[in-house]
Amino acid sequence: MRHLMSPLDFTVEELDRLLDLANDIEKNPEKYAHACGGKILATLFYEPSTRTRLSFESAMLRLGGQVLGFSNAASSSAAKGESVSDTIRMISCYADICAMRHNKEGAPMVASRVSGIPVINAGDGGHQHPTQTLTDLLTIRSLKGRLNHLTIGLCGDLKFGRTVHSLINALVRYDHISFVFISPEELRIPDYIREDVLDARGVPYKEVERLEDVMGGLDILYMTRVQRERFFNEEDYVRLKDFYILDKKKMKLAGPDMLVLHPLPRVNEISVEVDSDPRAAYFRQVQYGVYVRMALILTLLEVEV
Ligand code: NCD
Repeated sequence: MRHLMSPLDFTVEELDRLLDLANDIEKNPEKYAHACGGKILATLFYEPSTRTRLSFESAMLRLGGQVLGFSNAASSSAAKGESVSDTIRMISCYADICAMRHNKEGAPMVASRVSGIPVINAGDGGHQHPTQTLTDLLTIRSLKGRLNHLTIGLCGDLKFGRTVHSLINALVRYDHISFVFISPEELRIPDYIREDVLDARGVPYKEVERLEDVMGGLDILYMTRVQRERFFNEEDYVRLKDFYILDKKKMKLAGPDMLVLHPLPRVNEISVEVDSDPRAAYFRQVQYGVYVRMALILTLLEVEV
């Protein structure tokens, strides 16, 4: 039985197959409409979410399966003190596969060790968010036609942003990738990513503070929200929250093919006036998120269509 904790749980070849499957689902949705008939997905969300939980549910429903779960730890037995391990043992009797989001790093991993069903990490604290990364990879590959030879700018909260950590981990496996990290000093990428992931593989990167200085050289600009819930004090959050605001004026500095991605939810970091720019890909990204989660559910349940 396979789980998904990190994007590295799949080899590059397996990822390619998964993304191919997602593209096939995009083209021929009717072929997959009953693929998961009789199967149940449980969504165990101990931390707030709109997109990730609903896109998992939408993915399972579009595969003809059914869903159950909770979207708030306060309404689950966690509020009575039940451990994640006990919860997953029980859920294994109710469902065939589960997606878990937790504020504690490693909670889905703990669950996977005792689970009787595949567990998907739907975001664990500031650590990883592998299904957002699958979404990002599918979006980039579908819209750019490649996952190599790319300069990717990651902007905003690079310290606490789990989507950023997972995406860097996944992209360093492709050829000729370079990164530009754009953040305030306090929100730079963690040392472990710099040392264990980038330096260990000799991946080129630079760290800058001003978005305007680097816009012109990017293939992808990945914007992120300042992760308020992971700050120790509100004052720091308030000081940093509007550090970057991508607007029409800054978009003029970018090339005609640069894509803007964002895992969403957005707060102020992308002005709504950018939404109508053909380079703004963040709502298309949401649609790719459903296809890739459909492909992931089929893969982990070993359903052949
Ligand atoms: C992200 C997350 O939860 O980490 N959202 C998402 O899943 N699409 C990004 C965020 O919350 O800023």
